[in-house]
Amino acid sequence: MDINQKESVYQQAKEWIYEAGEEILSKINGPLDIQTKSNPNDLVTAVDSSTEAYFASKIRNTYPSHRILSEEGYGDRLDTLEGTVWIIDPIDGTMNFIHQKRNFAISIGIYHDGVGEIGLIYDVIADVLYSAKRNEGAKKNGVPLPKLDKGVNLNEAILGLNHFWLCENRLVDEKVMQGLVKTVRGTRTYGSAALEFAYVAEGIMDGYLTMQLSPWDIAAGIVIVNEVGGITTNMEGEPINMLLKSSVLTCHPNIHDSISKDYFKKGKK
Ligand code: IPD
Ligand code: CA
Ligand code: CA
Repeated sequence: MDINQKESVYQQAKEWIYEAGEEILSKINGPLDIQTKSNPNDLVTAVDSSTEAYFASKIRNTYPSHRILSEEGYGDRLDTLEGTVWIIDPIDGTMNFIHQKRNFAISIGIYHDGVGEIGLIYDVIADVLYSAKRNEGAKKNGVPLPKLDKGVNLNEAILGLNHFWLCENRLVDEKVMQGLVKTVRGTRTYGSAALEFAYVAEGIMDGYLTMQLSPWDIAAGIVIVNEVGGITTNMEGEPINMLLKSSVLTCHPNIHDSISKDYFKKGKK
């Protein structure tokens, strides 16, 4: 993507995300037509589907050479990240969308030849857009977000973490995770990976970690967190393969190695 195309793609994506947000607001009071997917708590609504269909049709009409990797089936089947790929979660935090009517976001990461170029996370209810372009910084509603340059120690950190990983599970030793929770100052669970990335970028949480997420949960967040100097890897401390499900640690650079080596790697099953 050359520099001019990147700017126009960014502006276009912003316009579509605001339009999609308005459409979601108009439908939020239902009927939502709630269905389950992999398990009874894995939910999807007609609004998730129609929002993704909206983006897919806009992208295909405007940028026929671009490809789409997305959650609800309107994307392409991809086995490489060559060219320009829109990685879309139409509603991240569907359970919150259904039960709380807040704390959900539209998440769009735009990658070119595997490199995250643009990230957009739109908290529809709060009307807050987190955005970033690679090497141009991150913004919250157009206002630049400061770099994460204040030091933070693990024992003063607030971490985003789902309670799943503190209970017996097949991916990580819950005792090791309980040790991490006892070490840090506090934990939070917001129920939207995209918003948790945004909060790390904003510096209101120092890190977010989870044992399994899909590319559309994190594609935008990675770009935004990168731009403020945060680090995102898998639990081994390696770069994330954006074509696969992965464990994820996104955080302030000061606490990355300790969480990865002393907890993630030790606890991995
Ligand atoms: C989910 C949310 C949630 C995370 C789940 C994701 P969805 O996405 O990001 O916070 O814990 O693993 O699947 O299903 O609401 O798009
Ligand atoms: Ca998601
Ligand atoms: Ca989703």
